[in-house]
Amino acid sequence: MRTQVAIVGGGPAGLLLAQLLQTQGIETIVLERYERDDVLSRIRAAVLERGLTDLLHEAGVGAPLEDGGLVHDGIRIAGGGHDFRIDLKALTGSSVTIYGQERVTQDLYAARDAMGLSTLHGCAGMKPHDIDSDQPYLTFLHGGQMNRLDCDFIAGCDGFHGPCRKELPDDTAQAFEQTFPFGWLGVTSDAPPVVEEFLYAGSERGFALCSLQDGERGRYYLQVPLSDSPEEWEDERIWEELARRLPADVANALPGGALSGRDIAPLRSFVSEPMHWGRMFLCGDAAHIVPPTGAKGLNTAASDVQYLYHALTRHYRDGDDAGLKAYSQTALARTWKTQRFSWWMTNLLHRFPAQTAFDLKMQRADLAYLAGSEAAQTTLAENYVGLSY
Ligand code: FAD
Ligand code: DHB
Repeated sequence: MRTQVAIVGGGPAGLLLAQLLQTQGIETIVLERYERDDVLSRIRAAVLERGLTDLLHEAGVGAPLEDGGLVHDGIRIAGGGHDFRIDLKALTGSSVTIYGQERVTQDLYAARDAMGLSTLHGCAGMKPHDIDSDQPYLTFLHGGQMNRLDCDFIAGCDGFHGPCRKELPDDTAQAFEQTFPFGWLGVTSDAPPVVEEFLYAGSERGFALCSLQDGERGRYYLQVPLSDSPEEWEDERIWEELARRLPADVANALPGGALSGRDIAPLRSFVSEPMHWGRMFLCGDAAHIVPPTGAKGLNTAASDVQYLYHALTRHYRDGDDAGLKAYSQTALARTWKTQRFSWWMTNLLHRFPAQTAFDLKMQRADLAYLAGSEAAQTTLAENYVGLSY
């Protein structure tokens, strides 16, 4: 088998890159480890920046988003005795779109199917080879046999645990990491959302988030110890804990009832440098992870995809490799700003086991400053709606 760009990973980053390259006539094959239903069952991101929605339109998959996406002009923050709205639209001129990651992925798969493009699911033992030569290739098990895919370039869109990042040479690759001493328990309710805009609450008992899966279903997150398992959190216990952490008006309106999709995600900041070696380029969670508080993971994956898409287009259309050479530096420059924002918002709103009395005072002062300063709110809003590419 041969293609121009071999894409490892059929998550949102890999699929979006494939679809965008297709618009330029650049051939791709997407290789995914799991079956499609497994990929689509991951309920995660919901907040899409303008940059990502523009890319989805450019990739030709903007129509369902226009119909099903909810435009949000603000968010609410409660904590440290303050409770206020950040008017994203008024402060930045931009909004965010609420549309689940699984729907983005589904739309991209549907577009790929409609064009008859190749996605191989169930690929095991994926291994990149000769990435520092001009004839890289991948080997993998599929359909009961070993396969080889030759290509011009490999795009490693294979998430945090994927094999591509491990191919960076040990004496060159550097990882920067901070793990947080807690996770997020996430659940979906069949009852309508209890809020119209997202509510981020930093209570004395820890963080809580009221979000929405879509217009019909609410989604909720709780900060929990990493030692907890999802089974320890029965429906009733989750509703009670949410009520303790949320402002009274929302606590009193919680619908109760059955919850699904119960999962605990650890919180981590991670960046691998460089994001490029030879003819292999990393995009999205394969290269970096943010704690989810600022809703930046999927959006940062999309900005990588945008840089790589333009760089590959210049290569094939104009024979110009300047974008490819600059890819790692360009993507990392934006990634580090997103890391800073996600780290800051996580520190602002969570309780840390080792937090001193001084740390708590600092957290309260940060919240008080944010509550009272238009400059501080503008900084948050500018990052939340998304920094320019
Ligand atoms: P992934 O989604 O991880 O996709 C990688 C793909 O590669 C997977 O399909 C995987 O199966 C495949 N793969 C792995 N190994 C191999 C292999 N060996 N061979 C072939 N394929 C392989 N982000 C936001 O922007 N906004 C939010 O609101 C938000 N909320 C979040 C809430 C939670 C609770 C969590 C956990 C995350 C959230 N994120 C959010 C982050 C976001 O979900 C991720 O950043 C996003 O999924 C990254 O996309 P990706 O395509 O890079 O990686
Ligand atoms: C969701 C996730 C986030 O990280 C966030 O900040 C807001 C919403 C969500 O999954 O709905």
